[in-house]
Amino acid sequence: MKVGILGSGDVAKALAAGFIKHGHQVVLGTRDTAKLKDWVAQHQGAQAGSFADAAGFGEVVVLAVKGAVALDALKAAGAANLAGKPVMDATNPIAQAPPTNGVLKFFTSLDQSLMERLQSAFPDARFVKAFNSVGNARMVNPQYKAGKPTMFICGNDDKAKATVRGICDQFGWDVADMGKVEAARAIEPLCMLWCILGFTQNEWTHAFKLLHKE
Ligand SMILES: NC(=O)c1ccc[n+]([C@@H]2O[C@H](COP(=O)([O-])OP(=O)(O)OC[C@H]3O[C@@H](n4cnc5c(N)ncnc54)[C@H](OP(=O)(O)O)[C@@H]3O)[C@@H](O)[C@H]2O)c1
Repeated sequence: MKVGILGSGDVAKALAAGFIKHGHQVVLGTRDTAKLKDWVAQHQGAQAGSFADAAGFGEVVVLAVKGAVALDALKAAGAANLAGKPVMDATNPIAQAPPTNGVLKFFTSLDQSLMERLQSAFPDARFVKAFNSVGNARMVNPQYKAGKPTMFICGNDDKAKATVRGICDQFGWDVADMGKVEAARAIEPLCMLWCILGFTQNEWTHAFKLLHKE
């Protein structure tokens, strides 16, 4: 697949390396390609461009920017470059304020997630929440004694979710499909839960697993 990744941070790089490892082509989008020069030189199959270059290139688009600027990055990517495409959304609506006893503050409410805002602003893009509640170091083929961890996903478009399910399979995750875009109200705060252990115990290696009755 051709994958356009909006972002130049740790998540963008971790997912880009995963796509390359599994034989896909990636273009990372940034406001400043100079910051990706060394990384691209070290990763064959990766290129850097503008947000619009990355979105235009991708059959699948990955959103991996700071939550507070997600709308800006998508505007820069261009609605036409996103239309009809799966947009795998790893962002979290983390507010500027510091955490309280390890609990992050969000700028959204439990009645409206960030992904719902993005989906209504870009109705022709097919958003799927994924990869928002695990550390970037364990996004691609993480190894746990208990087996595959669970990737909670949601989104309105079944075909886009099937594409993301395929990516999760390749990246070594079990998928739990939580339904439509509103489920992001529950999936985004999993990031808060995940980060508590980090902030309070300096434990950043865990992942969630959903257990079913046999
Ligand atoms: N870090 C993790 O392990 C982790 C895990 C799960 C989910 N997440 C979520 O994934 C997302 C990315 O996290 P990250 O840690 O990789 O990076 P980050 O520091 O949260 O975001 C960096 C990206 O945000 C973009 N950005 C910043 N200000 C911007 C603006 N005004 N307009 C447009 N773009 C702007 C930057 O673009 P430029 O390239 O142009 O500077 C850069 O690509 C976040 O939403 C985070 O909550 C993070």
